[in-house]
Amino acid sequence: MSAYANRPLLYLSQHHDAMLCRVLSQRGWKISFASSLQELLALAHSGQPAAALLDVHSGFSDAELESFEPWLAQPQFGWIGIVASRDALSEAARRLLGLYFIDYYTSPFESADLAHSLGHAQGMAQIRPAVRGAAASSRPDGMIGTCAAMQTLFRGIEKVSRWDTPVLISGESGTGKELAAQAIHRASERAQKPFVAVNCAAIPPTLLMSELFGYERGAFTGATKRKPGRIEMAQGGTLFLDEIGDMPLESQTSLLRFLETGRIERLGGTESIEVDVRIISATHVDLDAAIAAERFRGDLYHRLCVLRVRQPPLRERGSDIMLIAEHVLESVRKQSPARIRGFSPTALRAIQQHNWPGNVRELINRIRHAAAMCEDGVIQPADLELATPAEERPKTLAAIREEAEQHAIVEALQRNHERLIDVAAELGISRVTLFRLMRDYKLQVKKGNMGIVCVQGT
Ligand SMILES: Nc1ncnc2c1ncn2[C@@H]1O[C@H](COP(=O)(O)OP(=O)(O)O)[C@@H](O)[C@H]1O
Ligand SMILES: [Mg+2]
Repeated sequence: MSAYANRPLLYLSQHHDAMLCRVLSQRGWKISFASSLQELLALAHSGQPAAALLDVHSGFSDAELESFEPWLAQPQFGWIGIVASRDALSEAARRLLGLYFIDYYTSPFESADLAHSLGHAQGMAQIRPAVRGAAASSRPDGMIGTCAAMQTLFRGIEKVSRWDTPVLISGESGTGKELAAQAIHRASERAQKPFVAVNCAAIPPTLLMSELFGYERGAFTGATKRKPGRIEMAQGGTLFLDEIGDMPLESQTSLLRFLETGRIERLGGTESIEVDVRIISATHVDLDAAIAAERFRGDLYHRLCVLRVRQPPLRERGSDIMLIAEHVLESVRKQSPARIRGFSPTALRAIQQHNWPGNVRELINRIRHAAAMCEDGVIQPADLELATPAEERPKTLAAIREEAEQHAIVEALQRNHERLIDVAAELGISRVTLFRLMRDYKLQVKKGNMGIVCVQGT
């Protein structure tokens, strides 16, 4: 058994079968149990290949089963199903089983047989080619990220999705705020209801009110028929107010009234309509500053910002930049008429050194451009319109050794307040050797205003 200890198994069921779990853990399976999409999202997602077991008939509705689809499609899971009987399978369950499952068992079955199949399922998950790099770290919601800042973000998304209160997502442009808003919606209780996005910066201020609240026929010239607004269209679901910091004050006042009453009136109408939506808003604007400058209403801010999620800028995401770059290149490659081999080593260094003010969106655009412009299928910094990073010449071992020696002497001089006898003792060399080294490295000891400083002589 020990050879098979701690094999990861995801067990998705509304009914926790303790007997089955005992048999499976005796056989070395380390089980993570989830009974809903929310719990599934909350499970640590290591990206490691794992066997996965879905008890189809444990009480899931078709909609719930379908909400698992992004997980069923993940190549790092090898899925096995448990069903009550083949005849009891709904259209949806049949489709999912056929598409994503390696095998299924009809109850009653022998636990040992199931354990055997789970072993094969994990084996299949291990050999699937897509379980590499970006694919392994990309989530069903399309967000790639393994760094600490992104893990914090994913945990934040998962926590706020359990609540039905407004969320404000802050972050620079192109950091993935809209992606995060969609992820929160899909993981929330409102997942099956609409997700309606309004970009408050892109709609001219004169049109924003009618976009949000809708209008009645004849409300203004050109209003030839009644049109429901975006708030109404999101009924039961989520309204995503993007770039809320750019919303004109007039619309802010109307929005606040809606948030306080839960009711809207279409422009030119008198009927008061009750609308139940959850508001997620996003902005790259510093709202505190906007409030201070009286460009944003403080009372609206407090309504919108009950929970807060911060998107980290790309430059704070370490090696995730490379993961996303590879992932983007992979998708561009599929559409490219020419063969693209990859980034040159200098291009990779240029990507790492760039500051990415436009974040992921900028990265995507630069890679698309580069894929079209590059020659011989190799992307160079110029194709990405990035400066070629200064060449770092490889150092010889002797140079490295000398640098370390010099550094050690300077530090010892500082520590020992220029008492050369102590410096020599600390470094385990004679005073004569120390003098010689100091001469070689052109080191002098001088009394400075700030105490003892070591300077390199000329
Ligand atoms: N973590 C990520 N992994 C992969 N793609 C991402 C990630 N974050 C953002 N993107 C992509 O970058 C682009 C910009 O994201 P978006 O959500 O529109 O940013 P924002 O709303 O903050 O300006 C989109 O194409 C999105 O799919
Ligand atoms: Mg956006």
